[in-house]
Amino acid sequence: MRIEPLNKTFGAKIYELSIPLLEAEELKAIYDLWLQYCLLIFPNQNLTNEEQIKFAKNFGNLEFDLSPISNVRGDGSIRDANDDDIVKSLRGNMEWHHDSTYMPIQAKGAVFTAHLVPSSGGETGWVDMRSAYNDLSPSMKEKISGLSAYHSYEWSQKERFGHKDPKVSEFNSYGFDIDPKPLRPLVKTHAETGEKCLTIGRHINKIPGMSDIEAQMLARELEEFACSSEERVFHHKWTEGDAVIWDNRCLMHQACMWDLSEGRIMYHSRIEGDPIEEAASNYL
Ligand SMILES: [Fe+2]
Repeated sequence: MRIEPLNKTFGAKIYELSIPLLEAEELKAIYDLWLQYCLLIFPNQNLTNEEQIKFAKNFGNLEFDLSPISNVRGDGSIRDANDDDIVKSLRGNMEWHHDSTYMPIQAKGAVFTAHLVPSSGGETGWVDMRSAYNDLSPSMKEKISGLSAYHSYEWSQKERFGHKDPKVSEFNSYGFDIDPKPLRPLVKTHAETGEKCLTIGRHINKIPGMSDIEAQMLARELEEFACSSEERVFHHKWTEGDAVIWDNRCLMHQACMWDLSEGRIMYHSRIEGDPIEEAASNYL
């Protein structure tokens, strides 16, 4: 295999291998590269759904095997109406987030594959939250060192995007009804590398000891700081057949807008977080 690091604080493209043919030892090497680079991009893999699920299982148990992230219905027609709940969920994904911070256990990572890409736009972006934490001012590190935030998908999607009642929605509304809302520290230590990572994103709506407005403004300030350095932000322009794996503990991600009259079909496998290390503090 050939490893081509991105010119960033994280990420690498991996060439000259075929994911379905990897042997156990090579899979172990890929796991170690994933910990090192946080994001691995494998061009030209064209994985089947079964091959994707099998590959994702190399990184842990799965929170869910496979979910389409798409504006294309089963019959090939395109969803582009603003009041369509799946379009609302796609728009929600365009804000920076870690996956499943709104669940009792935060996700460990994700495998993502591109099956149909629009002629322009629709990139996925990632930001390095180790580097973001390291570069915070000493006073901000001090300010947030003991703070935790509530992460709510019900708030980030239903209240902010006007999602319909989950009972009548076409979207499965996974994570809406979690109660209590998970509380997690703004600064987490990566269970496998020991690095400190800022853990924020679009689902934060409350921080104990602050008003909701103050909490949301602090989350936004931290996010703007994290994304302010080109060095730690990377947007990938998809080509059909690409596969990626990212570490959700140390990266946030976002999708980018595209012309929604064009189809975009991606498949997402979500890797389950460690039940202790990734548990919300009010679920331990
Ligand atoms: Fe996501």
